[in-house]
Amino acid sequence: MNYREEACAFAPVNIAIVKYWGKRNKILNLPVTDSLSLSLKVGTTTSLREGKEKDEIELNGKIVAPESSFYQRTVRFLDLVRPHPHFFFTLKTKNDIPTAAGIASSASGFAALTLAVNKFFQLDLTKKELSCLARRGSGSACRSIYPGFVRWQAGKLKDGSDSYAKPISDTWSDLRMGAILLSEEEKPVSSREAMARSVATSPLYPFWPTLVLQDMKKIVKSIRTKDFALFGQTAEHNALAMHATMHTAFPPVFYWLEKTVEVIQRVLHARQDGLQLFLTMHAGPNVKLLFLKKDESEVKKLFPQLLPLEIAWS
Ligand code: DP6
Repeated sequence: MNYREEACAFAPVNIAIVKYWGKRNKILNLPVTDSLSLSLKVGTTTSLREGKEKDEIELNGKIVAPESSFYQRTVRFLDLVRPHPHFFFTLKTKNDIPTAAGIASSASGFAALTLAVNKFFQLDLTKKELSCLARRGSGSACRSIYPGFVRWQAGKLKDGSDSYAKPISDTWSDLRMGAILLSEEEKPVSSREAMARSVATSPLYPFWPTLVLQDMKKIVKSIRTKDFALFGQTAEHNALAMHATMHTAFPPVFYWLEKTVEVIQRVLHARQDGLQLFLTMHAGPNVKLLFLKKDESEVKKLFPQLLPLEIAWS
């Protein structure tokens, strides 16, 4: 197999607006439902070279310990593309945002690695194939192949060949996103575990697929018609419903901190006072805010610690 001396690639972080929550196949990361996200300008850059005696992984300038779950997940992904068992990689990966900030997820990491592998072995994979491969590393990574709004279609086939992401052509230049970072500590429970536990034990989970069908219709309509109230309400509702499945799992997964609740309350109050401000959350304590350009200064007054998250439209 031909390969280059070095290959380097970038992929964006994506923030889910309608969440991927639950798998029908854990090995292939096949989801129960479709999901939809927005890609940011920040992300992960990964370079790949041939290594010597074992895979060596560097994250933000530090060697990653082979015992860590990050190392093991990455090696398992590399096993999918290794030309033979004694071929090793040296991988250097860097996030624009600190990994611990709870924004640079595994999504941009596995998408950047997929793109680097494609260049390294000169595979010439199509976007669809790239999305399917990235999905094997982390489900949400299949959406980080594209900028802007991206929809991951769940697919029906057992081999997962119809489960990949596609871009939505609409852009929304007035849309704004920001993050309120409340904790930089590593999560006590991984999102992978939280997802599996919600599916297996939450009495609310059986309703989740129906809810996603409804939310997806509303979100797609809101994007087409630029109906921000519908967009924000649906995104917020979807995120809180996802957290409800975690809260009702056993043992419960509760990522919220006191400060998380404070931020949620402040968003709800601001809305009662007439501000068009909504929130979304991934599986963690940090809160992302959704608002329009016209309200930017008002939102910053309310949340001076707001970290702007610039959306990548192309
Ligand atoms: C809450 O993609 O990290 O961010 O497929 O097990 O790696 P694995 O899960 P992952 O889960 C993401 C969950 C989420 C929602 C989303 O991004 O859609």
